[in-house]
Amino acid sequence: MTLDEFKAACAALAADAPAQIAAVADLDAWTALRNALVGRASGRLTDIMATLPQLPKEDRREAGQAANAVKLEVEALLTARESGLSAAAKSGGDLDLTMPERRRWVGAAHPVSQVIDEITEIFRELGFTIALGPEAEHTWYNFQALNFPDDHPAMDLHDTLYLQGDLVLRTHTSPVQVRTLQQYAPPIRILAPGNVHRRDPFDASHAPTFAQVEGLVVDEGITFADLKATLTHFANRFFGSTRTRFRPSYFPFTEPSAEMDVLCGVCKGSGCSVCKNSGWVEILGSGMVHPAVIESAGLDSTKYTGWAFGLGPARTALARHGIPDIRILYDSDVRFLEQFAR
Ligand code: PHE
Repeated sequence: MTLDEFKAACAALAADAPAQIAAVADLDAWTALRNALVGRASGRLTDIMATLPQLPKEDRREAGQAANAVKLEVEALLTARESGLSAAAKSGGDLDLTMPERRRWVGAAHPVSQVIDEITEIFRELGFTIALGPEAEHTWYNFQALNFPDDHPAMDLHDTLYLQGDLVLRTHTSPVQVRTLQQYAPPIRILAPGNVHRRDPFDASHAPTFAQVEGLVVDEGITFADLKATLTHFANRFFGSTRTRFRPSYFPFTEPSAEMDVLCGVCKGSGCSVCKNSGWVEILGSGMVHPAVIESAGLDSTKYTGWAFGLGPARTALARHGIPDIRILYDSDVRFLEQFAR
């Protein structure tokens, strides 16, 4: 073995390596090639180095430098090829990394559900719990127990959807008042959200099926001041500090009765289409529970008094967002609904 032969062997390795390294298709093949070229046990370079002792002593230094230069060159090519191969393996190989990301759809609560959730939270902080009742309800719970006179127009076929026997689709959530009073002893503080049904035409401000949230407080010594303070607190929490007003009203199951208005959130009272130019939006009906209701649930109306309210979260959502037509809440149109994702 001469120095020239040794150098020729090194040059041959340096000449062969680039094409071989470029041709490697995956990490397994890369490992095999690295072992074949520069592997310590049996690689081509190791074989060349093994001939070094056969060279004249004075040539060994130069030969060693030549072999080392080839080693560095081949190893640099191997390292570059390895990082290319592992990047391709991570990205799944042939994926098009320039393709735009697919749109992610995020589910969200319906604006009416959001209103119900917020109302529930505000009253939960005040110690109210949730009570539920059936949507197919006995006429007694829906009407008679709530002090409706037998000739009340709400009982008319034109207004109420009758099922079999004495069952109706409940026209309001107030029957839950009676069911709760029958089941639990005062003090009572409940909130009853749920769907109700009326034979109303589907128009901009009416839907035949809609949600209500009922509230009921019954205990000894409850007065109209409790009603007013609690509902005013609720309005300020829900709408952010606002003005409220109570107007006298009538319901068979409350006496006295009042409707609560809040200052129109859209025009702040100056008048617009949402508040029909009045500056106020009606948000709930309320009143002191009629003694006849307390008695029909089997409680002593000389001992217990209470107040109740009923609110339509769909109307509340319309007022809050300045939406002109209730039907859009029922359309399931994603272009509308996605505005309320949060
Ligand atoms: N139930 C009444 C309605 O549906 C609302 C209401 C509830 C009024 C409780 C007073 C007290 O319009």
